[in-house]
Amino acid sequence: MARDGAIYVCQSCGAVHGKWSGQCSACGQWNSIVEESRSAPPGALKPAATSRAKGLNFETLQSDTPEPPRIVTGVTEFDRVCGGGVVPGSALLLSGDPGVGKSTLLLEVAARAALAGRRVAYISGEEAVEQIRSRARRMGFEKAPVELASATALRDILGTLKREKFDIVIVDSIQTLWSDVHEAGPGSVTQVRACASEMVRLAKSGGPAVILVGHVTKDGQVAGPRVVEHMVDAVLSFEGERGYPFRILRAGKNRFGATDEIGVFEMGDGGLREVSNPSALFLGEGKDRAPGAAVFAGIEGSRPVLVEMQALVSKSAYGTPRRAVVGWDTGRLAMVLAVLEARCGISFGDQDVYLNVAGGLRINEPAADLAAASALISSAMDMPLPQGCVVFGEISLSGEIRAVGRAEARLREAQKLGFDQALSPVLTVKDKGVKVTAVNRLSEAVERISQNRY
Ligand code: TYD
Ligand code: MG
Repeated sequence: MARDGAIYVCQSCGAVHGKWSGQCSACGQWNSIVEESRSAPPGALKPAATSRAKGLNFETLQSDTPEPPRIVTGVTEFDRVCGGGVVPGSALLLSGDPGVGKSTLLLEVAARAALAGRRVAYISGEEAVEQIRSRARRMGFEKAPVELASATALRDILGTLKREKFDIVIVDSIQTLWSDVHEAGPGSVTQVRACASEMVRLAKSGGPAVILVGHVTKDGQVAGPRVVEHMVDAVLSFEGERGYPFRILRAGKNRFGATDEIGVFEMGDGGLREVSNPSALFLGEGKDRAPGAAVFAGIEGSRPVLVEMQALVSKSAYGTPRRAVVGWDTGRLAMVLAVLEARCGISFGDQDVYLNVAGGLRINEPAADLAAASALISSAMDMPLPQGCVVFGEISLSGEIRAVGRAEARLREAQKLGFDQALSPVLTVKDKGVKVTAVNRLSEAVERISQNRY
């Protein structure tokens, strides 16, 4: 039964329902309906109220006061993903699977910033102070003047933070905080939302930069409400494939910087190591490339990255052939297979197809189409690509190879890493630096790979 004054709002589409139900009838989402109090019914502003209202002071876009300088933490990969350091008074959410290394990353951020003279508080509701100390020892940061506390009560935390002036406050994690104003338990939607909103308000009212840790649920959402993502200025996600030491920091939303920037780290015994030249990591081992491997010259954020794409095409043992992809989009693979079939006459109908991106990276660029196709062709024909060759280009449904952005940067990175050849769309770049084999159509790529002609 609906309680008096309560409404039920779908956190996914915003539809308002009279009673709670497991599935939103408006958008079909499950478990997204949450009770909210009807404190401000929509459209409740009485006409008389507007006559008493104060006028707004409109301002110009231009401002004389310079922006406050960013807090450069000294963890270069982290700073870059933030857009050049943390913005004072901003709120940031770091999300990721449990165990991926969020606490390790933020302890490193805290320690380096503190060593650089910033005042940093690290408040953990997940671990005891002694556990954090032992992690700091392992990482070699036991001397860093970080102010540690183990706390979960929002009232105590806010009380302290309003008195003390910190530059950065890290809260690990938002799911462990609880506010005594609400009855719901820690980690519930109501608590997470209330605590996040108080912490964001603290940051916005001239307070410290607040970094909140958020755990991710199985289906990849920040546990609790998506609303935390809307409240904060930036959402960074920390990702890594199980079994690989590499961790990738990605900006999903950033009011103060680009969202396509990534930071690459390697998890080792002594904490996280920053990887300033990720290409070497994602190239796979050894120089000799077997049939089915193609090196994609990609761009991640502002940086060119070379990464090996591996394909395996083999006769299917069952009626329905398998399609398995790691690190790339399944839909995109289906498209490339369909184009290879329809425009180039290569049939995969009775073949299992596996595609893997080396090193645990996830590629989102359409420019990877030609590299994936080349890996597939190479595996299907059992013909390796030339050893020093990189590949990039977008494939259209008609089988054309289309130009992609930043070709020059891609070629330069290839040259820097000892590659001397590229399979690509027709380029307008003057100084190519490597031998370029330009193809207009996918069928040309098939011919060249199968005849080893470049
Ligand atoms: P942690 O930062 O606790 O993850 P999260 O906060 O995201 O849950 O790190 C968890 C993993 O990292 C844990 O399995 C151990 C590993 N690790 C290392 O391999 N080396 C290290 O130096 C540290 C501190 C952790
Ligand atoms: Mg943790």
